Amino acid sequence: MTDTYVDLDERAILAALTLEEKASLLDGSDFWHLQGIERLGVPSVMVTDGPHGLRKQADEADHVGLGNSVPATCFPPAAGLASSWDPALAQRIGQALGDECRANDVAVLLGPGVNMKRSPLCGRNFEYFSEDPLLAGVMAAAVVNGVQSRQVGTSLKHFAANNQEDDRLRVSAEVDERTLREIYLAAFERVVKEAQPWTVMCSYNRINGTYASEDRWLLTEVLRGEWGFQGLVVSDWGAVNRRDVGVAAGLDLEMPSSGGAGTKLILEAVAAGTLSETDVDRAAGRVLSLIAQSTKRQPLEAFDTAAHHALAREAAAASVVLLRNDDGILPLDTEQGGTVAVIGEFARTPRYQGAGSSQVNPTRVESALDCLRAELDGKRQVSFAAGFELDGDQSDPALVAEAIRVAAAADVALVFLGLPASYESEGWDREHMNLPAAQLDLLAKVAAANPNVVVVLANGSAVLVSGWEHQARALVEGWLGGQAGGAGLVDVLLGKVSPAGRLAETIPVAYEHNPALGNFPGDNQKVYYGEGLLIGYRWYDARQLPVSYPFGHGLSYTSFDYADLTVDVVEDGPEPRVAVSLTVTNTGARAGAEVVQVYVSDPVASVHRPTQELRAFAKVMLEPGETRRVELELDDRAFAYWHPGVSGWVVEGGEFQVLVGASSRHIRLTASVILAGSDARVPLHIDSTFGEFQAVPEAADWLTAQLEGSPFGERLVGTELGRMLLTVPVRRLARFPGISFTEADLETFLLER
Ligand code: BGC
Repeated sequence: MTDTYVDLDERAILAALTLEEKASLLDGSDFWHLQGIERLGVPSVMVTDGPHGLRKQADEADHVGLGNSVPATCFPPAAGLASSWDPALAQRIGQALGDECRANDVAVLLGPGVNMKRSPLCGRNFEYFSEDPLLAGVMAAAVVNGVQSRQVGTSLKHFAANNQEDDRLRVSAEVDERTLREIYLAAFERVVKEAQPWTVMCSYNRINGTYASEDRWLLTEVLRGEWGFQGLVVSDWGAVNRRDVGVAAGLDLEMPSSGGAGTKLILEAVAAGTLSETDVDRAAGRVLSLIAQSTKRQPLEAFDTAAHHALAREAAAASVVLLRNDDGILPLDTEQGGTVAVIGEFARTPRYQGAGSSQVNPTRVESALDCLRAELDGKRQVSFAAGFELDGDQSDPALVAEAIRVAAAADVALVFLGLPASYESEGWDREHMNLPAAQLDLLAKVAAANPNVVVVLANGSAVLVSGWEHQARALVEGWLGGQAGGAGLVDVLLGKVSPAGRLAETIPVAYEHNPALGNFPGDNQKVYYGEGLLIGYRWYDARQLPVSYPFGHGLSYTSFDYADLTVDVVEDGPEPRVAVSLTVTNTGARAGAEVVQVYVSDPVASVHRPTQELRAFAKVMLEPGETRRVELELDDRAFAYWHPGVSGWVVEGGEFQVLVGASSRHIRLTASVILAGSDARVPLHIDSTFGEFQAVPEAADWLTAQLEGSPFGERLVGTELGRMLLTVPVRRLARFPGISFTEADLETFLLER
C-alpha cells in the first residue's frame, strides 16, 4: 500500500458491492487500517493518532502508547497550544501535521480533542484545549483546517461529554440539554461548521444513559441534521456497544477491527429486519468517500524535520504563560555575568507531552538546561542540580543538599518543577492538584538559600500554586511544550520572545473551589453535571471566588493600553451582529503581543446566565509605541442561550454588556448594547400555566371567556388570587369546582389555534 493518487468512482463501486462487502467496510481491518475491497481496487487506508504529532506504529500495534512509533515532530499538546490564543499558529501546525501524515501515508490523523476541562483532575486535560468552548473551538478549527489543507483528514474527538478518564468506557454523563448545547457541544459544533473534519470520533461514555456510539440524537440529528456534518463517524477504539444499533444511530465505522464480529452482527440484524439495508448503504458510502478523499492526493516524499522543529519551538514559546514577574526579574539579563543556577530534573529531562494514545516518538528533544547553556555560553555561568527524582514523591536528602549548595552560590535560581508522568495520563484522573511534596520541599529550601527564585512549571493541566508561589519572584507556566519545549522556554526566559500566552484554564486557589467537586468523577457509573453551565471561570465569577490566576491571564515584557471602545449594531433582530472595535497601544519598550478578550454579559435575563462569557478574541503583535485598531465581530451566538422549550438559540431582547479585557478578571473597557432579540416563546401546550396563557393575547382572551360567568373564575382575572395562580397549569384549573371549561375544551383550543 503506497500513497499514490487513485481516483475512485464511489458511486460505481457502491453499486457493485455486495451487502456482505458493504458490511465489511464498516469494520476496520486491523488496529489502524480500514478495510479495502481488492476486487474493486479500493485500497485499505491508515488512520492513526494524534493529535499533537503523528503516532504511526510500525510494529506491534496498540492504542495506549505502549508500542513505539515512527519519529515525528512532537508539537505542544493542546493545553499548551491553546494558551497561545493564536489560531493562525494552530493552523500552521495543522499544515505541518498534515505533511507528516502524507509523508507517512496516513489518511486521517486522530484528533484534535475538544472536550471541555470540566475538572482540573481529568487525566487527559493536556490533550484538550480549554474550559471555554469558544477558545477550544476556534483553536481546534484552525488545526483541522491546517491538516485538511494537505488532503489529510482529522478526527474530531471525543464526541461527546468525555470529560474524565475514570470509568470512561461506561460512565453516564448526566447533563441537561442547555448545558450540553452551550458548553459541551459548542466547540464540536464550531469545528464542524467552520472546518468540516473528515471524521468525528464518538466517545466511549454514555450521555444521559445512552452510549455515544448508539446515540442517534447526537450522531445524526444534531451532528448531521443541525450542524451539517458531511463526513464519517468512527468509534473511539473499543467504544462500540451494540454494533447494529450503532449503525442505525449513525456510527459508520468501528475501530479497531472487531475481527468480523461487527460485520456478522450487522448482517444478522439486516436479515432479521431490525437494521435497514439503507443504513448499511449509507455508512458504507461514507467509508468509501473517506477512502476516495484520502487517495486523491499526490504522495509527499518527506517532510522538513528542521522546519517543523523550528515551528514546534515557536509554538512552545507562544504557549508559555508568564503568571507573575515581580520587579521584572524576567527576562534574565544575558550580559550581566554571574551564575544562573538551574535546579530540577525537568530542566535536564523535560516532560513535554502526556502519556497514552497521543504519545509521539519525537524527531529530537531539546532540554531547557542544554539550551540555557548554549545561549549563555561565554555570558553567564550555568550550574545545575537535579534536586529531585523524576517520579519520586519522597525527598532525596543528597539531591536537596546539592540543590541548596548550587542555589546559594548563584545570582538567580531557575527551579523547574512539574507533574511526574505518572500523575497525568490517558486512562486515569489525577488524585489532587498539587505538585509532589518532594518538589515543594525542595523549593522551600532553595528559596531560603537564594531570594531570586524563578519557578518554571511543566504540567498538562492546572496545578495549585497558592501554597508556595510566595517563594518565587516569577512564575512561568510552560505546560507540556512538545519536543522543542526547552528551547521555547529559554526564548521566553532570556527575552528573545516576549511572553504572550494566556491561561486557557483558571488556576483556582484551592481544588475545593472547583464546581465539579462532589460530582466528579461520579459514582455507580453516573456523573452528574450538577454545576450546569458554570464550569471554569463561569463558576469562579458567579461565586465571586478569588482565584490564583484567572482565565485569560498572562503577563508580557511590555505593557499595553486599551482605548476608544466602540460597539455598533450591524444587524439587529433575532440574528444580530455587533461590531466591536478598540485601540490597543504597546506602551512599553519591547515588541510583544496582546490578546484582546471580549466577554459578553446579559445582566437581566429571564433565565440564569453566567456572569460573563468569552465571545471573541484577537491576538495583536505590536512594536514598541505602535497603535492598532482591533476589530472584532460578535454574532447572534455571542448573545444567545439555548432554550430547550423552543429547541433553539434565543437572543433575548434588552441590554447586554460588552466587556473588553486582558483577562476575565482584568476588564479594561466596557460598553453596552441594546438588541431587539427574537420573540421566541415556548408554544402553549397542555401543561402551560395560567401566567403563560396570560402572556399570549389570544390565549388570555380564550381563558377570560372561559372564566366569565363563574364567580370563582372571575375572581381569578386581574386579582391577587389570580396572581397566586400564575404558576398553576391551566389544565389543573379545569378540575376546580365552579370552573366551566374542561380539559377536553383546553385540548380543543390548543389544537385549533
Ligand atoms: C483514545 C483515542 C485514540 C484511540 C486510538 C483511544 O483509547 O481515547 O483518543 O485516538 O484510542 O489510539
